[in-house]
Amino acid sequence: MSVEELMQTAAAMVAPGKGILAMDESHPTCGKRFEKLGIPQTEQMRQIYRDMLVTTEGLSDYIGGAILFDETIRQKTLDGTPFPKYLADHGIVPGIKVDAGAKNLAGLGEEKVTEGLDGLRERFAEYYELGARFSKWRAVITIGDNMPSWACIEANAHALARYAALSQEASIVPIVEPEVLINGSHSIERCYEVTELAQRITFQHLKNQGVLMEGMVLKPSMVISGDTNNNRADVETVARETIRCLLNTVPASVPGIAFLSGGQSDEEAAAHLNAMHTLGIDLPWAVTFSYGRALQHAAMQTWAGKEENLAAAQKVVLQRARCNGKASLGAYTPDMEQAA
Ligand code: 13P
Repeated sequence: MSVEELMQTAAAMVAPGKGILAMDESHPTCGKRFEKLGIPQTEQMRQIYRDMLVTTEGLSDYIGGAILFDETIRQKTLDGTPFPKYLADHGIVPGIKVDAGAKNLAGLGEEKVTEGLDGLRERFAEYYELGARFSKWRAVITIGDNMPSWACIEANAHALARYAALSQEASIVPIVEPEVLINGSHSIERCYEVTELAQRITFQHLKNQGVLMEGMVLKPSMVISGDTNNNRADVETVARETIRCLLNTVPASVPGIAFLSGGQSDEEAAAHLNAMHTLGIDLPWAVTFSYGRALQHAAMQTWAGKEENLAAAQKVVLQRARCNGKASLGAYTPDMEQAA
């Protein structure tokens, strides 16, 4: 493990005014999104789409890292450059999703644990050779009646910590993602309780497994009302409660926190991130975005699988990256949405 390299990589991923582009959808997730828009679910269409994303001119002004899927890290851009090399040449750190997805926990109904630890040391060695300098593992925690269970919190925190230790061993910065799902009618208070617990237990396990705080990035969900709650908390409350939670759980030695968007609208995701920077609270870590849907959704709709729409789709990607890059500095205003 090179501590120096880990710290340099983490700093580049969350450099001021930049965030991370999550473009690591698995085949089933990407397939569902393509299907809705009538886009053929082929390897070539995924390559064309992801080429559109990464070749967007100016992307690196707002994007410090891009998370790839196993297929993409082995593919080339349309001009024949391997995706990781293209990204690195343009000042964007290439990353790789390494988890094998969330599977049902035995005896616990719909609760999940993320799999993928077997053989992970060897996979990390290969991914490093392919150019990956950071990785991602996503755990999923559901809020509901009698959920989450202690078993779910513990099993996921343990797996995240084992993954993170293996990633650092390979000099690859781990993005540790304990996602508390937005789905449900729960209150923001309940979300706070569950998010704080999940983060607190995750950091306990990270410490137990010897994970270096200075060489990791946390990818949390925001503390937010459930999506079907009919009295949802406002933007400032989401920002304040999210930061309060993180201040209670995340060591100041962690270089960066990069949120997932988790089903928020594009505007909400930008407004929430921005508000975290205008609370008047000094933050000990870089606080930015690692959005998937909130960076890509509108662009994928614009593209719709048609070559003639590629340039227009790139404008949309750049616009979302710019809005969120500004939000990561507290400099986003809703009128930027019109300024495409
Ligand atoms: P969303 O921003 O769409 O939630 O995706 C981020 C991600 O990488 C989930 O693992």
